[in-house]
Amino acid sequence: MTYMLVKKEEEIVREWEKYKGFTIRPEKSTIDYYQKWIRCYRHCQEFLLYGGTPEIRNIFQEEKLSLTMVDQLEVMVRAMGRLTSGGMPINAYEKFELLDWLELFKLNKKFSLLIGDDAINMLPEKKFTSFLKIASELLAPDGIFICHLLVRPSDDLILKSFSDILYDYKQGKISHFDLASQLNFICYDKNTKQMGWQQTIHILGKRLNQFLPHFNFKNLFGQCNSTFTCLSQNLFEGFVNQFFTIKEIFYPHEHQYCLFEPVYILSKK
Ligand SMILES: C[S@@+](CC[C@H](N)C(=O)[O-])C[C@H]1O[C@@H](n2cnc3c(N)ncnc32)[C@H](O)[C@@H]1O
Repeated sequence: MTYMLVKKEEEIVREWEKYKGFTIRPEKSTIDYYQKWIRCYRHCQEFLLYGGTPEIRNIFQEEKLSLTMVDQLEVMVRAMGRLTSGGMPINAYEKFELLDWLELFKLNKKFSLLIGDDAINMLPEKKFTSFLKIASELLAPDGIFICHLLVRPSDDLILKSFSDILYDYKQGKISHFDLASQLNFICYDKNTKQMGWQQTIHILGKRLNQFLPHFNFKNLFGQCNSTFTCLSQNLFEGFVNQFFTIKEIFYPHEHQYCLFEPVYILSKK
């Protein structure tokens, strides 16, 4: 399955420029929090990023720290690089490894810090255990895993009606950023525990036109094919507790959707 429905680096860059402020990209409070932890580990040698998140790469670039980035698509990492402050697809401090995250043991290396922004969400629930087990095996004994993810939204938001969202939006009670998330929430699939841009477009269809001309969901997210597996926080912590100790949980605060976007600081058991 392709992550984006556009193929070229420059097209991916253009799409991602539109996503600022939405759930796909980290907000300032999250970036500051990442920076705080990365600085605590700046004396260490080996850092690994799941994917190519530009906001995280900026922190490593500012600190002049070498970074290994792992993704199954090189074009994504190169496009994300063009969204960093330096604008390079892959810069001199960065090393790219083309690998599935479930094959990270092939790196045969230990890392002091692992960081992933919505990374685990990209996998189906049945792969969560393998993902976390492999992450714990990659980690040096005193290392940390900064694991940001989307968890299952609350039932009142999953069960909210389309007309209530439309009404709240027209009343100015929800921002564009929360509107996008709320539309995904009402299309959350309780069986697969997944939501995603294409799923929302497919389920809501022409009803999305009711937000035009102010908010064009299809134009914004029509080329993004990412699907998120969002487990309840309890269920997720059950998976985590097999391999890690939870040191801290941080919640960004810029939007209502941030309530469902915790950042976990995990240390190896
Ligand atoms: C870091 S994740 C999440 C990014 C963004 N925050 C979002 O919400 O879509 C996006 C990246 O994950 C990569 N990816 C997804 N599943 C993967 C896997 N099993 N192994 C390696 N890379 C994967 C995709 O190629 C993409 O570049």
